[in-house]
Amino acid sequence: MVRQVTVTVPATTANLGPGFDCLGLALGLYNRVTFVETAGGLEVVIRGEGAEPLPTDETNLVVRAAGRLFQVVGRRPAGLRVVQENDIPVGSGLGSSAAAALGGLLAANALVNAGLEREALLALATEIEGHPDNVAPALYGGLALVIQDEGRLLVESIPVPEMEVAIVLPAFELPTAEARAALPKQVPLADAVFNAGRVGLLVRALAAGDYGRLGMATQDRLHQPYRLPLVPGLAQAFAAARAAGAAAVALSGAGPSLVAFAPAGHQAIGEAAMAAFASAGLESRSWILPVDGVGCRVE
Ligand code: HSE
Repeated sequence: MVRQVTVTVPATTANLGPGFDCLGLALGLYNRVTFVETAGGLEVVIRGEGAEPLPTDETNLVVRAAGRLFQVVGRRPAGLRVVQENDIPVGSGLGSSAAAALGGLLAANALVNAGLEREALLALATEIEGHPDNVAPALYGGLALVIQDEGRLLVESIPVPEMEVAIVLPAFELPTAEARAALPKQVPLADAVFNAGRVGLLVRALAAGDYGRLGMATQDRLHQPYRLPLVPGLAQAFAAARAAGAAAVALSGAGPSLVAFAPAGHQAIGEAAMAAFASAGLESRSWILPVDGVGCRVE
């Protein structure tokens, strides 16, 4: 019998304003990775987002992640056919790299019956991809707070009510490395205090579905002030989304996409942000997405 496994991994929006490098939310937009054991060799097929730019050889992130798992457990298939069906845009701030790393790890884990638990998969994905604030919510679903403590990762899953967000992605390349290089090495104590209070408020407001507090709770002084000027029209898109009724707007991950929270009116909010990008000369795309409460699924 041919061994075959499919893994579905959600997109994520990390940071959510003040939760820089420690908070992330899983969204209902997915990549699917199918592994089929073959007699030999490697074949990679990519459909959907990233079909053009993503490599189809050993350097492919899904393949690298699978290779790492096979190495860790000391077992590998004779050959491998990989099919990636991607709905998560690449390089967008929506966790496509975390999704690729998790997709490869979980598919490999299931294909060779390795039985690694989620904690081990979280550690491996973070080692490969580098951003636990995307990896943790993608793996566990919902809102995840991730703490790094002397090389160990602690994840707290925080239940949130059903909600939808608007995502707007401008056609602008902003590599995460570049968005991180724009940040200062040190921040004033007042800015650290500003963010610390808001992270607490944000967790409480999201858990309670309290849109009235979300505007203040998503304010940030650690990364957004340095990153917004990197993308034409981004600051204007934030303002336009708010004017169109968004209760809160944040940079999604390291950008360039933004995430807007509102109890209703997501379509108009998305269109307002897109119009702001258009005024700055950028095309953009938008999505209205529910929060994913489940995380990765293996079939
Ligand atoms: N938290 C990381 C950053 C990105 O803002 O640079 C995770 O996507």
